[in-house]
Amino acid sequence: MSDGYYSSKKTDDICEDVCGQGSKAAATISRLKCVLQGFDLRTYLLLFIVMPFVIFAIYLHGQKFTYFFRPLWESPPKPFQTIPHYYTENITMESLCSLHGWGIRESPRRVFDAVLFSNEKDLLTIRWKELYPYVTQFVLLESNSTFTGLPKPLVFKSNKDKFSFVEPRLTYGTIGGRFRKGENPFVEEAYQRVALDQLLRIAGIEEDDLLIMSDVDEIPSAHTINLLRWCDDIPPVLHLQLKNYLYSFEYYVDSKSWRASVHRYRPGKTRYAHYRQSNVVLSDSGWHCSFCFRYISEFVFKMKAYSHSDRVRFSHYLNPRRIQDVICKGTNLFDMLPEEYTFKEIIGKMGPVPRSFSAVHLPSYLLDNAEQYKYLLPGNCVREKQTGFI
Ligand SMILES: *[C@@H]1O[C@H](CO)[C@@H](O)[C@H](O)[C@H]1NC(C)=O
Ligand SMILES: *[C@@H]1O[C@H](CO)[C@@H](O)[C@H](O)[C@H]1NC(C)=O
Repeated sequence: MSDGYYSSKKTDDICEDVCGQGSKAAATISRLKCVLQGFDLRTYLLLFIVMPFVIFAIYLHGQKFTYFFRPLWESPPKPFQTIPHYYTENITMESLCSLHGWGIRESPRRVFDAVLFSNEKDLLTIRWKELYPYVTQFVLLESNSTFTGLPKPLVFKSNKDKFSFVEPRLTYGTIGGRFRKGENPFVEEAYQRVALDQLLRIAGIEEDDLLIMSDVDEIPSAHTINLLRWCDDIPPVLHLQLKNYLYSFEYYVDSKSWRASVHRYRPGKTRYAHYRQSNVVLSDSGWHCSFCFRYISEFVFKMKAYSHSDRVRFSHYLNPRRIQDVICKGTNLFDMLPEEYTFKEIIGKMGPVPRSFSAVHLPSYLLDNAEQYKYLLPGNCVREKQTGFI
């Protein structure tokens, strides 16, 4: 210790000698030297090794810092009023409506299910088979542009034969992309939703028909839609609380998905949207399966195409081997922290999503065709090699 004291003392002495004399410029330079000499080794270490490391870490994980501290700068949205949901098999519709405090109608409402389609072929099949008994018209719009302005093949059009089971009830439309470079993806998305409003009118939607607004991967359960078409006093705009799954029904995340909604259509008033439009949500109304794709190539496409493509911060995120690894571990494709509003929830959800071994209460078409869709069921995280076209 005394040695250290001695050497720094000595440095100060030298400095005093030098700093006291010479021209102005020389004085400045030598003063700089003095300052540098005044730093000890630890300061240099901090400046040239620790600091770059910290900056690099912030560059790699900056998003995590902001997500982790989100509870400090953002308060949670106003909570929904959750309507309890009753259902059992073989119960009369009259008692079911009355359990919810609603009366029963003489005839059910007509139901329109409208989606913007990207490339979710399997989930579209499972969705349409689930809802088929109760839907009057399926309305599907697809564009040759992704929300991020990348050209996209008309996947539905080239697979139309696989969806012949809905043919008599289908209103299908296409729209040309605008392909604006560098634009916020939400603008293209909004543009496509406006076109979907027009397509709904073409499909013949009328006052008080039920309209389901949801993404393809947000699948309401059939009994939920049956309930809502039969009961009279349901709210004009009702959100559906769905169970969140990731990659397949093997990874159950939580039951907090709420973006899907059901509207009693009002001509000139109802607009197709995918954000919060009322304060009521019906509990346990179906499934939201994010990134539930059969092929790794479809993961890559979706990661580049969807509205949060800015999350692909490093190109190695798109590496197929990494993606397969992420799926089987139940970790995050974008290496992000959970998007939550309290520290308790963020910390509680950090790390991989635990595996679920339940395949109870899933869409019935999935279990009727378990072999064909086994990648969506527990125990089958390894994706098959792609053969032929998408
Ligand atoms: C369903 O309800 C009918 C009529 O109430 C009854 O006869 C039948 O046994 C019930 N089936 C089941 C599986 O509970
Ligand atoms: C997209 O579709 C529009 C309208 O059909 C067409 O004019 C345009 O050439 C298409 N663009 C691409 C990149 O396929």
